Amino acid sequence: MSTDPLLQPYQLKHLKLRNRIMTTSHEPAYPEDGMPKERYAAYHAERAKAGVALAMTAGSAAVSKDSPPVFNNILAYKDEVVPWIQNLTDAVHEHGCAAMIQLTHLGRRTTWNKGDWLPSVSSSKHREPAHHAFPKLIEDWDIERIINDFADAAERMQAGGMDGIELQVYGHLLDQFWSPLTNDLTGPYGADTLENRMRFPMDVIDAIRRRVGTEFIVGLRYTADEAQKGGITPEEGLEISKRLAATGKIDFLNVIKGRIHTDPAMTDVIPVQGMKSAPHLDFAGAVRKATGMPTFHAARIPDVATARHAVQAGLLDMVGMTRAHMADPHIVRKIIEGREEDIRPCVGATYCLD
Ligand SMILES: Cc1cc2nc3c(=O)[nH]c(=O)nc-3n(C[C@H](O)[C@H](O)[C@H](O)COP(=O)(O)O)c2cc1C
Repeated sequence: MSTDPLLQPYQLKHLKLRNRIMTTSHEPAYPEDGMPKERYAAYHAERAKAGVALAMTAGSAAVSKDSPPVFNNILAYKDEVVPWIQNLTDAVHEHGCAAMIQLTHLGRRTTWNKGDWLPSVSSSKHREPAHHAFPKLIEDWDIERIINDFADAAERMQAGGMDGIELQVYGHLLDQFWSPLTNDLTGPYGADTLENRMRFPMDVIDAIRRRVGTEFIVGLRYTADEAQKGGITPEEGLEISKRLAATGKIDFLNVIKGRIHTDPAMTDVIPVQGMKSAPHLDFAGAVRKATGMPTFHAARIPDVATARHAVQAGLLDMVGMTRAHMADPHIVRKIIEGREEDIRPCVGATYCLD
């Protein structure tokens, strides 16, 4: 039995993860007609074969028709997705790897001419600098419909054999509500208090839980520090984290620091070549310490030594090594075989991000 901290199993609720290495959500833009078909399954099966413990599949699978596939996302709002999800989860499970999927509504983070050209909706009336759609200020019936869409999509993922889901809460509709920078609403979902800003994500979590029951794993990938004046501060981020933990309805926190509304801002969340390694690891550790929640995190942890430190130092429960697995999908097998020096390193050129 190995004593390597990275190779120790992790018990997440009822689910035993075989080690501490995961790939975080990233859309390889492989869907065909919005569906994760054979190529998609093969992509994740290869890492599963090599030993990854958890594949967080998709990137931003869309729960609603008015969240168009802005970078060829999986259309989680269509019933026909279920057999394709089953095909994907079977391919990953066959090799002992857990499979989850990220769900979202992108809100204003879109362009005007994607999908069915429906109006985009947001809690903000301002355009996102990176994508430029003019959002319609969201109305009560949109909120009600989208909460229901999240629950429907979660149910489809559960029907397709997923072990759980993760909600994307950075740069997308859920955190457009909870960030003071992108909430122009008044009333129960308005900008005046943190409780009101968090109401929409909390309503979504409640609706999902009611639909999928208590056994299915539900987590959040969220920004706990927007690192921008007027945005969510680290203190408020810790408060948000504690409130999420206190619901008892969330099974893990996947911590993000920063914003993605512009390309330069995104390099804080997905640091590129020449930037510091693991810049937000200690912050993720602070969230873990403050909440006692199972904590996941990825942001340029490109090498095994840093990943091992993250677990050994009690900063993370699961370490995301996402681009590292694009450079070499066989990292875990090479660790197990004592061949770390054979791992082809990710240099952070981020060609993968187009
Ligand atoms: C091509 C690509 C697509 C991505 N798409 C998403 C996404 O849809 N949702 C998400 O939460 N993160 C997305 N990410 C971010 C990754 O999950 C991860 O946080 C980021 O790559 C930093 O971790 P790493 O240094 O281990 O790669 C994407 C990353 C890449 C490279």
